Amino acid sequence: MDTERGESREIVAERLKEARVRTQWLLRTVSDEDLARQHDEIMSPLIWDYGHIGNYEELWLLEITFGRSLSDRNLFDMYDASLTPRSKRPSLNLLDRGDADRYLDAVREAVFEALGDEDLDGGDPLLKEGFVYHMVLQHEHQHNETMLQTLQLMQGDSYRPESIAELPPGHPPEEDMVHVPGGPFIMGTDDRAWALDNERGAHEVEVPDLYLDKTPVSNRDYAEFVEDGGYDREELWDPKGWEWTREERISVPKYWYQPEPHSWWTQRFGFDEPLSVDTPVVHVSWYEADAYARWAGKRLPTETEWEKAATWDSKTGSKRLYPWGDAQPTPEMANLDQLAFGPAEIGAYPAGVSAYGSLGMIGDVWEWTASEFSAYPGFESFPYREYSETFFDEGYKVLRGGSWATRLGAIRNTFRNWDFPIRRQLFVGFRCARDA
Ligand SMILES: [Fe+2]
Repeated sequence: MDTERGESREIVAERLKEARVRTQWLLRTVSDEDLARQHDEIMSPLIWDYGHIGNYEELWLLEITFGRSLSDRNLFDMYDASLTPRSKRPSLNLLDRGDADRYLDAVREAVFEALGDEDLDGGDPLLKEGFVYHMVLQHEHQHNETMLQTLQLMQGDSYRPESIAELPPGHPPEEDMVHVPGGPFIMGTDDRAWALDNERGAHEVEVPDLYLDKTPVSNRDYAEFVEDGGYDREELWDPKGWEWTREERISVPKYWYQPEPHSWWTQRFGFDEPLSVDTPVVHVSWYEADAYARWAGKRLPTETEWEKAATWDSKTGSKRLYPWGDAQPTPEMANLDQLAFGPAEIGAYPAGVSAYGSLGMIGDVWEWTASEFSAYPGFESFPYREYSETFFDEGYKVLRGGSWATRLGAIRNTFRNWDFPIRRQLFVGFRCARDA
């Protein structure tokens, strides 16, 4: 049988194998001590992420789907993100690298056995069109990005991956903003094979006329805001954001510093380097993005505006999976898939242009939107409340578009990520909007 996008069970198995190769590759050069350590209180020890990837697979692909399991309850509890808060994870008796390797292998072997038996087209909504396999695959991909955030935060040794891919040069566009004419578009999706519950269902939304930045805000532009005293001008800030900058003594993006006036440097995976002025600003909180936008005489786009600009082709009245169309991302379209270990220069992907002319909407940096994370009309939690529903209307802001650290199978125009407005560990920047 084939799933909707023509995937046989062999392809599903190949994707799962490929995901594991990457997970292990990312961790290969990290010492056992650094795997076990908690490098920041908001992150798990890397070795927890690793064991949790295997346990999530055991939970969903063996226990829940087929009623089979290999492990005892203690192990399930230890790796259950909702039972064990991050602060407790370092003190657990976690599997070390060798034991985790063996555990993940054993789970995977049992999963491949089970994959031969079941009916991906049958009535079970978990199995229909291979949903649960895609969910587990995306989960592993997403933890890869989380692990990269931890590696960026790593104390002590710097992170040295085995290789780094080269990126194409930038071509800064001549115009600053693109026009997105007002009118309705279809937001969200009805895709039941890949999309997660919070992306569903497809619904029509009327969007007012607007202008949107053609590209994400660059380090050059952001440095102007910093040097113009942007962090000292209360009127530019959301009151809570202002309070946060005072309490935490925030005056530049995370990792920026100035060895001498007008010379900005930054730290990437523990290495010092001059700030590249032509790449998007990264590691800024929502509050910083919001203040910058006000300083620039603009505002952050809502996620509706963002999704329309990325996705809608008004000539055909149809929706694209990616800004450039429905074709899967390639290295010519966007900087995704981790191996560059940083964003490309602004305008490096002219082929990735959206129907409205915006660039870089997928890849490089996540983009903060003005919107709070909440449910679409008719939302139904699937397959578990803790995936999305428990996070709705809790003060999280929506991020869109993925980053250089996002794997291909974990991003599309409708994908919604969320975090608190003070968070800066993500590979996140932003672009601005303006009413027309
Ligand atoms: Fe997880």
